[in-house]
Amino acid sequence: MANQTITLLSSREIEKMRRAGQLAAELLDHLESMVKPGVSTLEINDEAERWTLEHGAKSAPLGYHGFPKSICTSINEVICHGIPNDKEILKDGDIINIDVTPILDGYHGDTSKTFFVGTPSNTAKRLVEVTEECLYRGIAAVKPAGKIGDIGAAIQEYAEAQGFSVVRDFVGHGVSNVFHTPPQIPHYGTRGKGKKIRPGMVFTIEPMINEGTWEAEVMADGWTALTKDRKLSAQFEHTLAVTDDGVEILTLKK
Ligand code: MF3
Ligand code: CO
Ligand code: CO
Repeated sequence: MANQTITLLSSREIEKMRRAGQLAAELLDHLESMVKPGVSTLEINDEAERWTLEHGAKSAPLGYHGFPKSICTSINEVICHGIPNDKEILKDGDIINIDVTPILDGYHGDTSKTFFVGTPSNTAKRLVEVTEECLYRGIAAVKPAGKIGDIGAAIQEYAEAQGFSVVRDFVGHGVSNVFHTPPQIPHYGTRGKGKKIRPGMVFTIEPMINEGTWEAEVMADGWTALTKDRKLSAQFEHTLAVTDDGVEILTLKK
């Protein structure tokens, strides 16, 4: 990689990240009310775009490396980076991850959740619950002077003990006035390995957990990533700031 330098954010910058993070949490909360059978992913996208502009922000995904829409919507076997469209209609029993990243005053708030459409199958329910718990176990492993490998180890141990697998091809990332920066945060790995965690680091943890194989495939659109075995995948994401004595979740809704 060209530049491995990990930027530490000042308290002024972290305050801006806090505002962007809060806006992202509110946006995701707002979109949750649209998750119902019969709604298209394009309708959710268009409301996200409208709401984001109304709140004085911009949608980071729109035009990012050519991504065509304002949010990512990833249904069932789609791991991440699903592209909203008018042909894709939510139906009872689906699970859908909605991933939003508004830019407010130049800074990014990056967060996602997986929602149930109507009534989930037992497997879908368990996968989604385990994935959310993976995110929180990853966050609990963030300690100043700990290592980045501690995060992935905590996530992988729990996911695999529950009979699920951890996606390797997509990882968490540093985030600031730039969408994706070093360090990479794998959701698998070994405790005690990797770079040191330091106060002022701001990054996402965003585990993608699969029902079957961890292996992924990217569709011909160049974006949509899906499970190789077409079994379910779920994801949850928060943006975090490392503090002197622990961690602050910037995208937790107040
Ligand atoms: N929000 C995604 C992430 O968590 C990135 C989406 S990039 C896009 O990192 F181009 F697909 F929008
Ligand atoms: Co995201
Ligand atoms: Co992210």
